[in-house]
Amino acid sequence: MMRVAVIGAKGQLGSDIVARLGAQAIPLGHSDIDISDAASVASALDRERPSAVINCAAYNFVDKAESERDAAMLTNRRGPGLLADYCREHDLKLVHVGTDYVYDGRTGKIPWTEQDDPLPISTYALSKYAGEQLVLTHCPRHFVVRTCGLYGRNAMHGKGNFVETMLRLGRERPELRVVGDQRCTPTSTANLASAILDLVKTEEYGLYHATNSGSCSWFEFASEIMRMASLRATVSSITTAEYGARARRPSFSVLDCSKLERVLGWKMPTWQEALGRYLTERNH
Ligand SMILES: NC(=O)c1ccc[n+]([C@@H]2O[C@H](COP(=O)([O-])OP(=O)(O)OC[C@H]3O[C@@H](n4cnc5c(N)ncnc54)[C@H](OP(=O)(O)O)[C@@H]3O)[C@@H](O)[C@H]2O)c1
Repeated sequence: MMRVAVIGAKGQLGSDIVARLGAQAIPLGHSDIDISDAASVASALDRERPSAVINCAAYNFVDKAESERDAAMLTNRRGPGLLADYCREHDLKLVHVGTDYVYDGRTGKIPWTEQDDPLPISTYALSKYAGEQLVLTHCPRHFVVRTCGLYGRNAMHGKGNFVETMLRLGRERPELRVVGDQRCTPTSTANLASAILDLVKTEEYGLYHATNSGSCSWFEFASEIMRMASLRATVSSITTAEYGARARRPSFSVLDCSKLERVLGWKMPTWQEALGRYLTERNH
């Protein structure tokens, strides 16, 4: 039986992966392992002796990272670097999760493929890019999986996610203003967990894009959340400049997932199907 160490086990993606792995999971939360600390990485993984490692831990505060560069770099760059070294030395498979924010979004309007050159435009994106590059170059048995706009059930009890925020605001306010000029593919961690667990069974190492299919702006996504949840708040579209977030974000970060589809032999559901499933399940 495979024994898979899931790091970031209490986060959105990590908790869905742990749930699917069942008895094969070795869940490691932040109190069990600090990926930015070499001694902590070695002692946790030496103790558990996994046959593969899936890293879902990250510093995910995109705006705060602009003033907390060191914290972002420690978890997003040094952390995956230490895991890559450990997995190389112990001949383990390592799955690491990257982000669509490595692209700058200005160069075109065709979904990005794994061959395209990233150009990170925020501190968060730089830190995540640096981390994935260490995994790609230091650990031969790697799966680096770039994804986008994650929402998962565990956020209901924790830091929240875009869907939970919109549901709350949709109940509290008559009108919501949501950015309409950033296009990407929000992705359900339930679907991403299934893709990652199918991928890690293979020997098809490399870089992958993995999101739900289709694409939308955050405005379109919010409008669909209101419609599916039967909330009456009206949603209006504003520009990125009007919203005025601290960190820059790509205007277009839709990912081409055809490489993943070829290797898995199946395609991720559309973002609408995934959202519908999430909303149905959260009410049970
Ligand atoms: N969320 C998105 O929209 C999005 C988009 C694209 C890519 N991604 C990537 O997808 C992956 C999963 O994201 P997610 O939304 O599931 O994350 P999440 O819910 O924020 O969970 C991340 C987990 O990592 C833990 N953690 C933070 N620093 C750590 C450290 N130094 N050592 C060990 N654990 C640490 C956190 O614990 P504490 O809370 O206790 O600190 C948290 O439980 C990440 O790599 C993320 O960058 C996410």
